[in-house]
Amino acid sequence: MPSGLTEAKAALLAASRVAVLAGAGLSAASGIPTFRGQGGLWRPSETRTLFEGLRPESLATPEAYRRDPELVWTWYRQRFELAAQAEPNPAHYALAELQARVAECSLVTQNVDGLQQRAGARVLELHGNLTHSRCECCEHLGPLALGFAIPPYCSRCGHRARPNVVWFGELLPQAVWEEALAAFAQAEVALVVGTSGVVEPAASLARLAKDGGAFLIEVNPEATPLSHLADVTLRASAVEGLPPLLGKGHAAPNG
Ligand code: OAD
Repeated sequence: MPSGLTEAKAALLAASRVAVLAGAGLSAASGIPTFRGQGGLWRPSETRTLFEGLRPESLATPEAYRRDPELVWTWYRQRFELAAQAEPNPAHYALAELQARVAECSLVTQNVDGLQQRAGARVLELHGNLTHSRCECCEHLGPLALGFAIPPYCSRCGHRARPNVVWFGELLPQAVWEEALAAFAQAEVALVVGTSGVVEPAASLARLAKDGGAFLIEVNPEATPLSHLADVTLRASAVEGLPPLLGKGHAAPNG
């Protein structure tokens, strides 16, 4: 029984307002690579085999898209197809069940893979999603399907569409961000899972909750810049850590 599990579980069972911040580690067990850390997309050794020596950071920018939209779309189509063929894992389902049980439970995600939604959760997507394109002209969202043609065009106005994700240097969707801020400011318990905590402003949500007096729980196999703020840290993967933490029953004594 990991140290702190009983305390964290008790805090969650007593809370009626919970806010969760999820990152790429949540989907690692579904076969979606993280960005940083072992096997991560942002690691130079991995990127060289991707697109002729280009680092993926340099693909996830408005400048890259202006320079070579076909290349950027090819990379997003590859990621879309991986996500579309992946399955939600037990950690995704545990979060969806938590949301169904707690009076107010906001699931804020940095993930673009759609797996939390496919597990039945309502999710605030901070960084957009891979599942849709967004018209460069009228912003209409179009669902993508396996093998979609590059580039996709808007079904409403016919203009070229871009990936519906937030790139480096772009603003987060305002309404989603405001809802996330409110949820973390008011949370009694905040849970951060599978995020390196280095990408802002997402990481600031954990600090906001802590400043507001929330009990902060981190689930991550590695230490992060948020670890020192946490009341309880479970050094475990999401699939090992979340089901016992979020399951309905009480943890065994001395956990
Ligand atoms: P990162 O790739 O930065 O961090 C992944 C985190 O997951 C690390 O802290 C790992 O220790 C942890 N991890 C790895 N395997 C895990 C597992 N099985 N279970 C739980 N945790 C695990 O991912 P994010 O923090 O989500 O933004 O990255 C934030 C943003 O950086 C992304 O949304 C993306 C990227 O730039 C945009 O594309 C805008």
